[in-house]
Amino acid sequence: MDKLRRGFSTRAIRSGQDADPATGSTIPPIYQTATYTLDAIGATKGYDYSRSINPTRRALETQLAALENGAFGVAFASGMAACFASASMLRSGDHIVAPRDIYGGTYRLFSGVLSRYNIETTYVDMADLAATRKALRPNTKLIWIETPSNPMMVLTDIEAIVALRQPGQLTVADNTFCSPFFQRPLDLGVDIVVHSTTKYIAGHSDLIGGILVTNDADINKEMVWHQNAIGAVPGPQDAFLTMRGAKTLALRMREHERNATAVAHFLEKRSDVSAVYYPGLATHPGHELAKRQMSGFGGILSFRPRGGAARAYEIARKTGIFQLATSLGGVESLICSPEVMTHASMPEPVRKELGITGDLLRLSVGVEDAEDLIADLAGALDAVPAQPARASS
Ligand SMILES: Cc1ncc(COP(=O)(O)O)c(C=O)c1O
Repeated sequence: MDKLRRGFSTRAIRSGQDADPATGSTIPPIYQTATYTLDAIGATKGYDYSRSINPTRRALETQLAALENGAFGVAFASGMAACFASASMLRSGDHIVAPRDIYGGTYRLFSGVLSRYNIETTYVDMADLAATRKALRPNTKLIWIETPSNPMMVLTDIEAIVALRQPGQLTVADNTFCSPFFQRPLDLGVDIVVHSTTKYIAGHSDLIGGILVTNDADINKEMVWHQNAIGAVPGPQDAFLTMRGAKTLALRMREHERNATAVAHFLEKRSDVSAVYYPGLATHPGHELAKRQMSGFGGILSFRPRGGAARAYEIARKTGIFQLATSLGGVESLICSPEVMTHASMPEPVRKELGITGDLLRLSVGVEDAEDLIADLAGALDAVPAQPARASS
């Protein structure tokens, strides 16, 4: 398939999805096998053991690489396993520069795990290019990008960060929030794209997975080596479900965005909401950058109802269609408290500095009917007034 001449959905549906050569099965089968029988010693058909290689996983890797305009995809058992694989390029004594507003699990990986191997991380406000440049050291080997960030929806200018990269430094972009439908960091010069495929790519909140995509053959070789050496691979069932989900990514992303835009406008007009963080709003500080760098604004937003943490907790309990659950990117709408759910692994002072406090709620806006989503939020906000009503005399 010529990736440059095919549209996004054609690639989603056809890349890596050729009929099975063994049987003609139109849909790539779930090769539920640990091992492969040889005709003679040394005579493999390219497959020897499913930790190293599996045809269903290969089909997924080819499909997702095509969606990111990349040459190589390497699939993992989770987004965190994929993040760890990209960081495995580092050695003791190396240094990472990462955004201070970063997914809590990635923060835990860098500050809790890699620090044990003498790999230090400096967290910076990546909207501040001068500060980011200043954070780079001679031993900096990895510049991590996450845009829009989780949960504050802060945008990073990918091309500007890539321009800071010195020889020997790697740039990795976590593209989970946008999905490749709305943003393609490899086209902007990034070395590796990482996804939690748990989210939009698989899209149905029914599995955990991750992927790395690159155009660099040497990086791919290292990642494939790591995939086999560490063994955090997705099973064939999960690879199949991810692949099936990814076929409808464009359709879903358009709906997620339409609904998120409607919800953001609704919340913005509420006097009992003090802030709405969504890059599609003209008031968002990254709105112009979002228009330039992304082809859509995505389906996630955070907001701050007035009335503090107590009111926010009550609102999260009172919604019905928005289910109170961690994660994002599925067809169903979710609401969560980043402070105690997704970002609990971040130290409190850091969370406070970023604005990840008890009064912040994050929404993953699904593809249900927009009117129902708005009615659900309106009902929950109205049920918990920001100020107790004055008793009438
Ligand atoms: C932006 C981002 N990156 C990475 C991850 C980790 O992915 P997983 O939960 O699949 O390990 C998440 C999970 O929420 C995430 O939101």
